[in-house]
Amino acid sequence: MVAPTRLLALSVFTSLVSATPLSKSSPKSNSKFSRDLLVHEARDVLPLGFSLAGPAAPHTTLNLRVALTQSNPDAIVDALYQVSDPSSDKYGQHLSKSEVQQLVAPSEDSVNAVNAWLQKHGLSATPLSPSGDWLEVELNVSKANELLAADFSKFTHLDTGTEAIRTLSYSIPAGLKGHIDLIHPTTSFPENVQSLGTLQKRTIHTPILSRKSSSKCANGTTPACLQQVYNIPTTPAKHASNKLAVTGRFGNNAHYKWLQEFLQQYRPDMNSSTNFTVTLLDGGNNDQDAPSVSEGELDIQYTVGLATNVPIDYVMVGVKWKDDGLNGFLDEVNYILSLDQPPQTLSTSYGYPESSMSFALTDKLCKAYAQLGARGVSVIFAAGDSGAGCAGGNSTAFSPFFPSNCPYVTSVGGTTGSSPEIAWEGSSGGFSNYYSAPSYQSSAVSGYLAKLGLSPAAASTKGRFNATGRGFPDISAKADDFRVWEGSIASIWGTSASAPTFASIVALINDRLAQAGKAPMGFLNPWLYSKGKSGFTDITSGNNSVECNGKTGGFEAVEGWDPVTGLGTPDFNKLLALVGL
Ligand SMILES: *[C@@H]1O[C@H](CO)[C@@H](O)[C@H](O)[C@H]1NC(C)=O
Ligand SMILES: *[C@@H]1O[C@H](CO)[C@@H](O)[C@H](O)[C@H]1NC(C)=O
Ligand SMILES: *[C@@H]1O[C@H](CO)[C@@H](O)[C@H](O)[C@H]1NC(C)=O
Ligand SMILES: *[C@@H]1O[C@H](CO)[C@@H](O)[C@H](O)[C@H]1NC(C)=O
Ligand SMILES: *[C@@H]1O[C@H](CO)[C@@H](O)[C@H](O)[C@H]1NC(C)=O
Ligand SMILES: *[C@@H]1O[C@H](CO)[C@@H](O)[C@H](O)[C@H]1NC(C)=O
Ligand SMILES: *[C@@H]1O[C@H](CO)[C@@H](O)[C@H](O)[C@H]1NC(C)=O
Repeated sequence: MVAPTRLLALSVFTSLVSATPLSKSSPKSNSKFSRDLLVHEARDVLPLGFSLAGPAAPHTTLNLRVALTQSNPDAIVDALYQVSDPSSDKYGQHLSKSEVQQLVAPSEDSVNAVNAWLQKHGLSATPLSPSGDWLEVELNVSKANELLAADFSKFTHLDTGTEAIRTLSYSIPAGLKGHIDLIHPTTSFPENVQSLGTLQKRTIHTPILSRKSSSKCANGTTPACLQQVYNIPTTPAKHASNKLAVTGRFGNNAHYKWLQEFLQQYRPDMNSSTNFTVTLLDGGNNDQDAPSVSEGELDIQYTVGLATNVPIDYVMVGVKWKDDGLNGFLDEVNYILSLDQPPQTLSTSYGYPESSMSFALTDKLCKAYAQLGARGVSVIFAAGDSGAGCAGGNSTAFSPFFPSNCPYVTSVGGTTGSSPEIAWEGSSGGFSNYYSAPSYQSSAVSGYLAKLGLSPAAASTKGRFNATGRGFPDISAKADDFRVWEGSIASIWGTSASAPTFASIVALINDRLAQAGKAPMGFLNPWLYSKGKSGFTDITSGNNSVECNGKTGGFEAVEGWDPVTGLGTPDFNKLLALVGL
C-alpha cells in the first residue's frame, strides 16, 4: 500500500538517461565488467518532489556505504527477544558489545570477496560499524559509475532546494550477490528529516492569567505538571553510570544558559547548575551563540528537568555533505554501538516517512536498533506529528512514520488535556507497510482491528492502511503546550515533547533498578504489551484524522491499544511496582 512514487515528468528521466549514458566516462572498463554485473537495486521513477538537475561532475567525491550481508540476519532479532521478553529465562541478560558484534558480523568470505573486488579497482574500504557490517568507500563519480554500471546524477528536492547525488540503478558483480545487501546512497533519496517539536510553536508574550485550578497544569505543561499527572518523583537519581542520551540534529543547539534559567524557574528544588554533556558527530557543533530553534532546548530541558540528576548526553549530529545519507541516523547508531557502556536510554524526536527509504536500507537501520536493544538500551522515538499521514501524490493512503514504527524501538504518541487526557490530533500513528505486526503486539492489534470493524470511523480508513503491519505508537504522553525557555517562554506542541518525557521516566526507573542491583529495562515492547500494560492509563478518545486529497479520516483512540495513543500514558508508581520495586 505504499503510494507509488510518481515521476514529475517521465520525459525528464528519459532525457537524463540518453544525456549521460552509463559507459560514457569509461567505456572500456565498463564493457569489460558489465558482462558479469547484475542490477542490484533500481527505481523506475523519482520520488515525489525531486527533479533531475543534471549530470554529476565526474570528479565529485562520493562516500559510498556498503552494507555487507550478515551471516545470520535473524540472529540479532532472536537474541533481542530472548533478553527482552519477560517470559524468557534470559530476560534482562543483555549482551556485551562483542557478543552483539559476533551475531551481526558478516562472514569472512563476504569481507574477503568485497575487499578483493574493491582492490581490483584500486579502491579500499574502511569499516564504519563495530562489527564491520558497514564499509565506506571513497571514490569519484566517474569511478563509481564504472564500478557499479551506475549513472550518478544531481537531483533537486523542489520544496527545499536540497541537492543530492543519486543513481536510479546500480549493479554489482554476480559473484557478490549474497555478500552485499546494498550500497548507499544510490537509489534511496534523502528525506528532509523532521524535528517533531515545532508544530504550533508560539512565543508567549503576555503573562498568563492565573487560572483557578488546583492542577499543576493550569499554566501549560511544565515539569511540575508532568510530575503530577504521571507521578514522576522529584527525588534525584543516584547512579552516575545510568545515562540518558538525547539525539540532536542540524543546528538544534541546546543552550546552557537557557537550561539554567529554565531550572531556576520550573525546578526551583533542583540545583540550577545541573548540566548536560555534548557529543559531536559528523561535524555537529555546540555553538552556544546559535539561535534557539526550540527542538534542542525542549529535548534538553525536559530530560534534565524531569530525569532529576540522571546524566544527560546530547548527541549532536552535523549535516556535512559527508553525512551518512540517512539523515544522520546511521552514524549515530553506529557511534552508540561502538561504546563499551552505551547509555541505557536513548530519546529521539526526529523521523521521516517510512516510504522515503527502501526496505533494505530501512531494515539495516531498524536492525541496528535491535542491536542496541539486545545490549540493554531502551530506544525511544517520537511517533511523529503527521497524524495518520498522507502518502502524497494523488493517493489517499496514510503514511507511516519511521524510525518510530520499527518493531525494535518504542514509539511514543501524543495526548492533550488532562483528567482525562485525549489523543492529540497530530499524533502520528498507524501501520507499517514494511514490517508485519510483531508477536508481542499481535493480540493488541487484532483487538483494535476488531473494534475498528464495528466503528463508524472504519469507512474513513478503509483501504488506506496495511492491516497486517506493525502498529504504532506503543504508548503516549502529553504533547501539548510545553513551556520551553529560550530567553522568553515558548509553547511547543508535538510528540517531540512526549518522547523525552517518557524517556525520563524510563531513565528514572533504570536508576532505581541499578540501585537494586538489577539490569536496566532494555528493549521495552515485549514487557509493555504484557506485564507492563497495567502501568499505563488507557486513552479512549480523540483521533489523528488527516485530509489526503479531499478524503478525511484517521484512527480513533479506543479502549485498549490503538494506533494514536498506543497502550496509554505512563504512571511512574505503577511501572515501578510492575518492575518489582
Ligand atoms: C577518478 O578517480 C580515478 C581513481 O579512482 C582517477 O583515475 C580518475 O582520474 C578520477 N577521475 C576524475 C574525473 O577525477
Ligand atoms: C499560573 O500562573 C499564575 C500567574 O503567574 C500563578 O499565580 C499561578 O500560581 C500559576 N499556577 C501554576 C499551577 O503554576
Ligand atoms: C550545584 O552544582 C554545581 C555544579 O555541579 C556545584 O558546583 C555546586 O556546588 C552545587 N550547589 C549546591 C548548592 O549543591
Ligand atoms: C555547563 O557546561 C558547560 C560546558 O562545560 C559550561 O560552559 C557551562 O557553564 C555549564 N553550565 C553551568 C550552569 O554550570
Ligand atoms: C494526479 O491525477 C491527475 C488527474 O488524474 C493527473 O493528471 C496527475 O498526473 C496525477 N498526478 C500524479 C502525481 O500522479
Ligand atoms: C503490507 O504489510 C506487509 C507486512 O506486514 C507487507 O509484506 C506487504 O507488502 C504490505 N503491503 C503493501 C501493499 O504495502
Ligand atoms: C477528530 O478530532 C477532531 C479534533 O479533536 C474533532 O474535531 C473531530 O470531530 C474528530 N473526528 C472524528 C471523526 O471523531
